[in-house]
Amino acid sequence: MTNKIEFYRHNISLGDIKNASRVLKSIFLSTGKDVGNFEEALANYLNCKYAVGTTSCTASMQLALEALGIGPGDEVITTPLTFVATANAILHTGATPVFVDVEAETGNMDANLIEKAITKKTKAILPVHLYGQMADMKKIRKIADKYKLKVIEDAAHCVEGERDGIKPGQLGDAACFSFYATKNITCGEGGAIALNDGETAKTLKKMRLQGLEQSAYERYEKKFSSPDMTVNGWKYNMNNIQAALLMGQLSRIEKLWERREEIYQRYEKAFKDIPGIDFPKTLKGVKHAHHLFTIWINPEKRSQIREELQERGVPTACNWWPPVHLMSYYKKKYGCKTGDFPITEEICEKTITLPFYPKLKNKEADFIISNVLEVVKRTL
Ligand SMILES: Cc1ncc(COP(=O)(O)O)c(C=O)c1O
Repeated sequence: MTNKIEFYRHNISLGDIKNASRVLKSIFLSTGKDVGNFEEALANYLNCKYAVGTTSCTASMQLALEALGIGPGDEVITTPLTFVATANAILHTGATPVFVDVEAETGNMDANLIEKAITKKTKAILPVHLYGQMADMKKIRKIADKYKLKVIEDAAHCVEGERDGIKPGQLGDAACFSFYATKNITCGEGGAIALNDGETAKTLKKMRLQGLEQSAYERYEKKFSSPDMTVNGWKYNMNNIQAALLMGQLSRIEKLWERREEIYQRYEKAFKDIPGIDFPKTLKGVKHAHHLFTIWINPEKRSQIREELQERGVPTACNWWPPVHLMSYYKKKYGCKTGDFPITEEICEKTITLPFYPKLKNKEADFIISNVLEVVKRTL
């Protein structure tokens, strides 16, 4: 194969670019009608009442936590098997992340460990829908109700996912999404919060824009005024250019998902029952959003395997190493150490992420498969 396989290629179409150009040629570039239209479409897609567009999933999680009353002195239970953004968003509020280990089969937060981690300071649970497979929201909601806790979902990987007929945002108090450059739908950087409570949605819309009562667009459309600031706020508002880029992708989201499902099946068929290769299980009742495809290999050979694959033209990533609790900052601040979350550590040590996106051609997927099989076989 002469053409290099990219680790990721986005799906922004000429139509999406045209839509963004329309915004660029208009008066209003910042948060306005396009953002409102995208929020409505996203809320509809998710069967949620409200969506609030932001600049990132990290900002979304911080805002959601703060809007739901979490702050200094509080504890939030989360998973260490995630991108550092999840725990960082808790830190941004002044609260403390408390980690619980994950399920060996899926890598998702083990809901059976949550109750043991609850203290008088616990105010919320923040599960991550890892790689696109939802955590056990029914169980998590039940525990949250028993202890009067909020649930904020990190759904950065999971716009299209479902579990037991539930989508992100339906059982949580808020679900947070990412439209970062490599996500299933993207505008380079961006995020959103989906939720069902109207008052919280109103507060979030203020909090994303300096805590002001009215946005510039509302002042422009209705009547010029000097809005008051009534809540603490940040500068986390999605703009019309981002929304215009996302709108078309959202309308094609199921088609894009179907193509990833085809590639998933191809990978699954090829890697099933191969000695030296395993991968996370998709549980019964789950519609996997298929954001990332990871395989598990011999951790001692991981660097060698990744280097050999790279040399053969197969780029890989690792989601993630180190796990959050073994990042220097967390080790120093909270005294976390190796062995604290053994299942997380084991998964993080053996994971390789393969290229997995709708534009990946079948012959590219087959090239990846044959190289992975050859390289792994030689390391057994
Ligand atoms: C699980 C998870 N949570 C949160 C984030 C942060 O998303 P953003 O870059 O939009 O803040 C990411 C980004 O990759 C992620 O993978």
